[in-house]
Amino acid sequence: MKILVTGGTGYIGSHTVVELQNQGFEVVIVDNLSNSSEEIVGQIEKITGIRPILEVFDLVNREKTADFFKRNSDIKGVIHFAASKAVGESVVKPLEYYRNNLVSLMNILESMKENQIPYIVFSSSCTVYGQPDELPVSEKAPIKKAESPYGNTKQISEEILQDTIKTSEIKTIALRYFNPIGAHESALIGELPLGVPNNLVPFITQTAIGIRKELKVFGGDYPTIDGTPIRDYIHVVDLAKAHVVAVRRMIEDKMKNGFEVFNLGTGKGYSVLEVINAFEKISGEKLRYKIVDRREGDVIEVWADPTFSNEELGWKAEKGIEEMVASAWKWEQAYRKNELLK
Ligand code: NAD
Ligand code: WQD
Repeated sequence: MKILVTGGTGYIGSHTVVELQNQGFEVVIVDNLSNSSEEIVGQIEKITGIRPILEVFDLVNREKTADFFKRNSDIKGVIHFAASKAVGESVVKPLEYYRNNLVSLMNILESMKENQIPYIVFSSSCTVYGQPDELPVSEKAPIKKAESPYGNTKQISEEILQDTIKTSEIKTIALRYFNPIGAHESALIGELPLGVPNNLVPFITQTAIGIRKELKVFGGDYPTIDGTPIRDYIHVVDLAKAHVVAVRRMIEDKMKNGFEVFNLGTGKGYSVLEVINAFEKISGEKLRYKIVDRREGDVIEVWADPTFSNEELGWKAEKGIEEMVASAWKWEQAYRKNELLK
């Protein structure tokens, strides 16, 4: 069964392609390589023994997207990862973010309609909840006004999907990810941020390996156990596996509505200092860090109520925080060693 994975050479996409192939799905990737590289296809092949097909083009291009779907009308479902994802950058370049994230989605949906392709899994985000009034946050929590154009693209995308399913055969599962971290156990694929990382864990591993001078911990005066913000970190392979479950749910006709939403988190929150401690424990390294001012737009604390996902999807995140940071550290070391050998 053929599945289109947009953004399949990216961080979460590449891990999902591996899990799909491991479970017997045929995968076609579309990616414009704006935030990833073609080499990932070879890395996936090393893990699974199967080289996924990669077509390189921009999904914002309506004609190219339509042409791709016409040639691949036997696709059974789409997992749509392709998007720009840097929160800070989206504040500076809002139009680029709205264009990339929304036009690509609309192009895909139009082509799906034209070719009677019925299923799409969409990458949404816990960012849609903002700072929730109640914790843990369930799928029923109200959507808060977005803090950034990036967050707004996720909210609007969910609305576009909700409206589309009313007037077409298309069914959608929107997966709201909490904080994906870590890497595949093979250390052949992982997170590869361009330039200075925005996210905590790649900044930690790059500091430990000597690329960054020190980690800045944004804020030590939050009303939390140790003054630093709390997040629900989830291993990227656990996340990837949830996508395969979602695809199966669609093709096996188990959906209860045309538009379903699931939280993908562990249900457990960790503070920034707890993540640093976990890293120091598993690596035996002392991390250089200092507490600085708060980062604008950061919520104090958020973690998922994964009950609905656990019960309805029969999926549960399995890996704990130490395993998550250990896999990120293993990946960072393997990647830098490889770069030196090049
Ligand atoms: P990523 O940047 O590693 O992967 C996205 C991929 O999409 C990249 O390979 C990029 O080249 C490609 N792409 C972007 N725009 C494209 C376009 N117009 N046409 C074709 N390809 C395009 O990001 P990721 O971390 O793997 O995130 C995947 C999805 O999950 C995104 O939609 C992101 O918003 C969402 N998400 C990510 C996180 C996170 O923390 N990583 C959290 C919540 C949601
Ligand atoms: C985690 C914690 C930071 C870097 C982002 C997006 C969200 C979603 C996931 C896409 C926070 C602190 C970080 C650093 C630090 N993405 N931190 N020093 O902000 O929870 O979520 O990624 O949908 O939309 O906003 O993740 O990893 O950036 O931060 O102290 O150098 O680490 O302040 O408390 P965040 P993050």
